[in-house]
Amino acid sequence: MIVRAPAKLNLTLAVRGHRADGYHDLESWVVLVDLFDELAFSSASRFELEIDGDDSIPADDTNLVWKAAHLFAAAAGVRPGVRIRLTKRVPAGAGLGGGSSDAAACLVGLNSHWGIGLDRAALERIACELGSDVPLFLHASQVVMRGRGERVEQLATRIRGWVVLICPAVHVSTADVYALFAPADTLPRRTDVWLSDPLSCAAVMPQLFNDLEMAAFAVNPALRELHTRLNGLGGACVRMTGSGAAMFSLFDDEQRARAWAAEAGVAAGDSEIHIRRILTATDEIQF
Ligand code: C5P
Repeated sequence: MIVRAPAKLNLTLAVRGHRADGYHDLESWVVLVDLFDELAFSSASRFELEIDGDDSIPADDTNLVWKAAHLFAAAAGVRPGVRIRLTKRVPAGAGLGGGSSDAAACLVGLNSHWGIGLDRAALERIACELGSDVPLFLHASQVVMRGRGERVEQLATRIRGWVVLICPAVHVSTADVYALFAPADTLPRRTDVWLSDPLSCAAVMPQLFNDLEMAAFAVNPALRELHTRLNGLGGACVRMTGSGAAMFSLFDDEQRARAWAAEAGVAAGDSEIHIRRILTATDEIQF
């Protein structure tokens, strides 16, 4: 059995404040994109995890898939006997949610592979324990996430189009970025951009924002330089996703996306460039 684990993009990311538990309250419009990791499940007497496609990711108990499988097995009251082959295509440590998406796909996959039948609320409880960004991957492909990430509102398809992803070779730690977040970094703006009308990529792109950009640029000034080089290139706005380091621009048509990606590739040096589609309601892949 194979489960696909898509990447996510934070189109908006409002940081609302620091919480007593060390986390931050957020409000973020998130869409999934058609860049997928893949988890293949097969029977085994004990837990085995094998990773293809990215040598930098450990296949040990620090991996979120390892944690997801063991938490799920404990919740379901079964022994974690399964072989999981994880094929990585989503760049790690980029703000694209690859590890969180893999963990959610692992919960969904094991629920079916072991024939457990936990409902979504039960899977969400396990997802929350695994990380702030894990629950959103148990929902629709376009959502608004709130709280620490555990409150997910499913949206009907609000936006269609193409994404050019620029994934720099540098990584930033999520905890480091949040630690440098300062409320003074946030500018006055409309936060519920997903409700604006019309919602073409061209109309929406200048309204998108990410309150963590300044903090990420402070953690690694090379990101600020990259953003300065890309933002405004060929008239396109560029935003960062999550806590970075990947950046993106949205386009209504594929041809324009490809033309801009070629320009961005030159300006972005050794960054990895992907041209992908925003997933819509007809692409539902897990639920
Ligand atoms: O939940 P997760 O393990 O992905 O979070 C990593 C780190 O990011 C947390 O330890 C915290 O420092 C920061 N974070 C936060 N507020 C959130 C999500 C993450 O402060 N809503």
